[in-house]
Amino acid sequence: MPNTFGKVFRITTWGESHGPALGAVVDGCPPNLPLEESDLQKELDRRRPGQSKIVTQRNEKDQVKILSGVYQGRTTGTPISLYISNGDHQPKAYDEMRQKFRPSHADFTYQTKYGHRNPEGGGRSSARETAARVAAAAIARKILASRGIEIRAYITRIHDISMPPLAHLPTLEEVEANPVRCPHPETAQKMEERILEVRKEGDSVGGLVLCRVQGLPVGLGDPVFDRLEADLAKAMLSLPATKGFAVGSGFDGTLLRGSEHNDPFHNQDGKIRTRTNHAGGVLGGISSGEELYFQVGFKPTATIIRSQATVDQDGHETELMGKGRHDPCVVPRAVPIVEAMTALVLLDHWMRHQAQCESFAFSQENE
Ligand SMILES: Cc1cc2nc3c(=O)[nH]c(=O)nc-3n(C[C@H](O)[C@H](O)[C@H](O)COP(=O)(O)O)c2cc1C
Repeated sequence: MPNTFGKVFRITTWGESHGPALGAVVDGCPPNLPLEESDLQKELDRRRPGQSKIVTQRNEKDQVKILSGVYQGRTTGTPISLYISNGDHQPKAYDEMRQKFRPSHADFTYQTKYGHRNPEGGGRSSARETAARVAAAAIARKILASRGIEIRAYITRIHDISMPPLAHLPTLEEVEANPVRCPHPETAQKMEERILEVRKEGDSVGGLVLCRVQGLPVGLGDPVFDRLEADLAKAMLSLPATKGFAVGSGFDGTLLRGSEHNDPFHNQDGKIRTRTNHAGGVLGGISSGEELYFQVGFKPTATIIRSQATVDQDGHETELMGKGRHDPCVVPRAVPIVEAMTALVLLDHWMRHQAQCESFAFSQENE
């Protein structure tokens, strides 16, 4: 099921960039959850294109419709079908790309694997598909929020400009205070200038997103193949343009000794905590109750408004001039998408944990 994600809380997405619409089917949602289109819309509005001058100027309203699974404002436990129409098409901008492969995009591999592809807007390889994920994940976010879980992603690096580490969890308002979504205003200003500079040159840049989750209980994640960090890594690397995932100390942790890297346990008012958190909130693939944090690296946007060497579908070497409306840096718009995928993984694992270890678990005291 290559278009389905999750085991208990499952989503299936469908649709292409320049098709009439795209959407998702959410299965496994608990019944009786109060749910309205506005719950989903507020997340979609954060992801939409055309929000500022540093993102693509494609103008999509991304208005979501709930077609099924909700009756009188509450979920019924049946599949929830979500529909978002596509409006702002510019298929002509992709004419040359019908024949020529964009360097570092998906045209070559789609064509070779399937022998037929939709080049308009990149078809299914377009990040438009992530609108469906964000809409579906807004349901997971609502459930997690009702359990006190806070998921917050923000940008820590654009190209070679990094923000200093932040001790507190920034508020949503701090993150959304600038179009870059970096909660350090002076750094955000420099990042914005860099993005505008490369846009003017017809070029692109990438960057890093940090995602932090507070309020998680101990116990989410399975020990072997479905470790929490393994499922998060898969979720993040399923996003277009991602090139890296690191949990906790990540690659920097390899520079430390065990005596420096280990997180000592202590008893804090009857609760077992760790004094440091190089682990990033997971031990043995299971959430430890400490803050969960990880980083996701996004590459520079593939489509640049410059002439580049490439080949056509017959293998002839040629040149391709990028056209269309593209994000000079995909990272600011990736922030709500990273949060969305995080919510999907966490809710799915929470429901799996409840089924195995709480709802059906045997108690030693009763035996
Ligand atoms: C939010 C977001 C926006 C994106 N916008 C563009 C874009 O405007 N132009 C483009 O060429 N790629 C864009 N991408 C990336 C492509 O979809 C991606 O590079 C392509 O599907 C190939 O996949 P890969 O880079 O993972 O190999 C975007 C990605 C994200 C996450």
